[in-house]
Amino acid sequence: MDKIVVSVSGKGGVGKTAVTALILKVLLERGERPILVVDADPATNLPDVLGVEVAKTVGDVATKLKRDIEADKLPPGVSKGDLLESWVFETLVEGDEFDLLAMGRTEGEGCYCFVNSLLTRILDKLTANYKITLMDMEAGLEHLSRRTDRDVDIMLIVTDPSKMGFETARRIRELAEEVHINVREMYLIGNMFPRGLEGLVRRKALEMGLRYGGVIPQDPNVASFNLEGRPLLELPPDSPSVVAARKIAEKVGLVPDTMLLELLGVS
Ligand SMILES: Nc1ncnc2c1ncn2[C@@H]1O[C@H](COP(=O)(O)OP(=O)(O)OP(=O)(O)O)[C@@H](O)[C@H]1O
Ligand SMILES: [Mg+2]
Repeated sequence: MDKIVVSVSGKGGVGKTAVTALILKVLLERGERPILVVDADPATNLPDVLGVEVAKTVGDVATKLKRDIEADKLPPGVSKGDLLESWVFETLVEGDEFDLLAMGRTEGEGCYCFVNSLLTRILDKLTANYKITLMDMEAGLEHLSRRTDRDVDIMLIVTDPSKMGFETARRIRELAEEVHINVREMYLIGNMFPRGLEGLVRRKALEMGLRYGGVIPQDPNVASFNLEGRPLLELPPDSPSVVAARKIAEKVGLVPDTMLLELLGVS
C-alpha cells in the first residue's frame, strides 16, 4: 500500500485549516482509509473545525517528559523514547472515520532537541500505519526550519488573493529547497478567490516553479458553518468549496479522477 503524507501550508489566515478539512471531507467521501490528520499548528484550531474533542496534545506530554527528567522522576529501567511513545499514542484521538493527532506546543525554555528528535521518530512510526496523513501546518515559514514537514510527498501551499499570500507561497517554495526538504510535489492552491482569476493563479504558480493545484471560491457556507461552530465535514456535498476541493484532490492525485473512471466504465 502506497503511503502518502500531505501538508497544507501558507500565510496566516489564508484558509489552511479550511482546506485541510475540505480535502479530508473529499477523502472520506471516496472511502479512503485509514487516514491520520495531524494538527501541526500550535494554535490547535483544526479539531474544532472537524468537530473532534482533544484532551491532550503531543506538546503536553513532551512538556511532561522534560519536567520529569528535570525532576529526576522517571521510573528506572524504562527508556525515555518508549515512555514518550506510549504517551504520544495515548493523545491520539481515534474516530470511526479518521484519527487525529494534535501537536500543540511544548512549554519551557531552551532547546529540547533530544525530545524533538524522539518525537520525529515516533511520528514516523505512527504515520507508517496510515494510507494518508494530512497535516495542517502553522502559518508562515517556521515549520520549514524546524523540518516538521521534511518527509512530505505532496505540499499544498495555499494563498488568498493578496500580494503577501503569493509572496509567502514563494518563500515557502524557496526555503523548502534551501533546507532540503524532500517534497515530491508542490502545488499552489488559491483560496477565497473571486471567479475568473484561475488563470492568474496558474500563471503565478508557473512563475514560482510550483504546480497549479486549483482554486477554491469564497463559500458562504464555510463562513456560516464557522460562525455557528458546525464542523466543515458536514458541508453539503454540492457546496462550492467542496466541489472545488474534489477537483483539487483529483488534480494532485489523492483520489482517482472521476472522468477517467467513467471513461474506463468503473463507476
Ligand atoms: N473558501 C472559503 N470561503 C469562505 N470562508 C473561508 C474559506 N476558506 C477559509 N474561510 C474562512 O477564513 C478564515 C480563515 O480560515 P482558516 O482558519 O482556515 O485559515 P488558516 O490559514 O488556517 O489560519 P491560521 O493561519 O490562523 O491557522 C476562517 O474564518 C474560515 O472560515
Ligand atoms: Mg489554521
